Amino acid sequence: MQSFEGKTAFITGAASGIGLALAERAAAERMNVVLADIEEEALARAVRKIEERQVRALGVPVNTMLEESVDAAAERAIAEFGRVHLVFNNAGVASTRSAGRALWEISDKDWDWVMGVNFYGVLYGIRAFVPHMLEHGESSHIVNTASLAGVLPGGGTYGVSKHAVLAMTEGLQRDFAARGANINASVLCPGFVNTNIHRAERNRPVLVAADSANPELEQQGTAFMSDLLSHGKQPSEIADIVFQSIRENRFYILPHPAWDEFVRSRVEQILARGPVASTDMMEMQRRREAGEVF
Ligand SMILES: NC(=O)c1ccc[n+]([C@@H]2O[C@H](COP(=O)([O-])OP(=O)(O)OC[C@H]3O[C@@H](n4cnc5c(N)ncnc54)[C@H](O)[C@@H]3O)[C@@H](O)[C@H]2O)c1
Repeated sequence: MQSFEGKTAFITGAASGIGLALAERAAAERMNVVLADIEEEALARAVRKIEERQVRALGVPVNTMLEESVDAAAERAIAEFGRVHLVFNNAGVASTRSAGRALWEISDKDWDWVMGVNFYGVLYGIRAFVPHMLEHGESSHIVNTASLAGVLPGGGTYGVSKHAVLAMTEGLQRDFAARGANINASVLCPGFVNTNIHRAERNRPVLVAADSANPELEQQGTAFMSDLLSHGKQPSEIADIVFQSIRENRFYILPHPAWDEFVRSRVEQILARGPVASTDMMEMQRRREAGEVF
């Protein structure tokens, strides 16, 4: 997609963090903006913020874990604006409840929540919008938010869900090419960004409520993440890079080059048939304290 003005962007997780920054960037490009989120008060505030920019904005409550909810949000967007050209499947969560649990000890509720939002939410967004984009035929783009956790080893439920998003988006781009579709895809893989994701539990639906494995470890983990995130990039920087990447039709969007060496080492370990590469968080913390921004 080369031009954005007058077209329509649909963004999940738009009430906070990266999603809100994408909404603001879309508004700066004079697009119509559909903001979809589960947190209704924050969503209403976000919509007002976008409307101040004198563009058309629509707020749609959605729970991306549920296909019928994503379908209903897509229908509202299409009813309001006719054609949707740019979709950001961005809503995501990280569970802190599993702190201290090995993979086999993590509860089904935790898996269901994290895979439900991070993986199935993206799949439902693809299913809801691709047929519509194929039908209107105008140049369109889908950006799925994964993470560097989708490229690096480990990361528990979060890492698994983000690897799935990366793999699905690669498949999606191949399918677009095979069908000659006027649609492209990108996968966004950020490192630390200064958002509210360390407080993701605020939006955990009752249906997947889970007890904390170890409240003390959970608290420590949240504080550690909060510190790392607060020194991460600003969401607006990520949104600028994403829009530039769409213009340039880049598939892999990695806005944190400081992590490239970890990505390289993972690939090298695979090719060396070696042990699992490590991403040492304490090393990241030391380098962060030395002034590097991750
Ligand atoms: N912040 C980071 O360092 C970072 C790094 C890599 C990837 N990411 C990814 O970026 C994306 C955006 O996260 P963020 O960091 O801006 O966090 P955030 O918590 O600030 O924003 C996430 C938004 O998603 C919404 N959301 C949560 N569950 C939902 C659901 N079931 N249905 C609809 N909306 C829901 C939240 O209400 C919130 O507004 C996520 O996919 C996250 O995994 C973040």
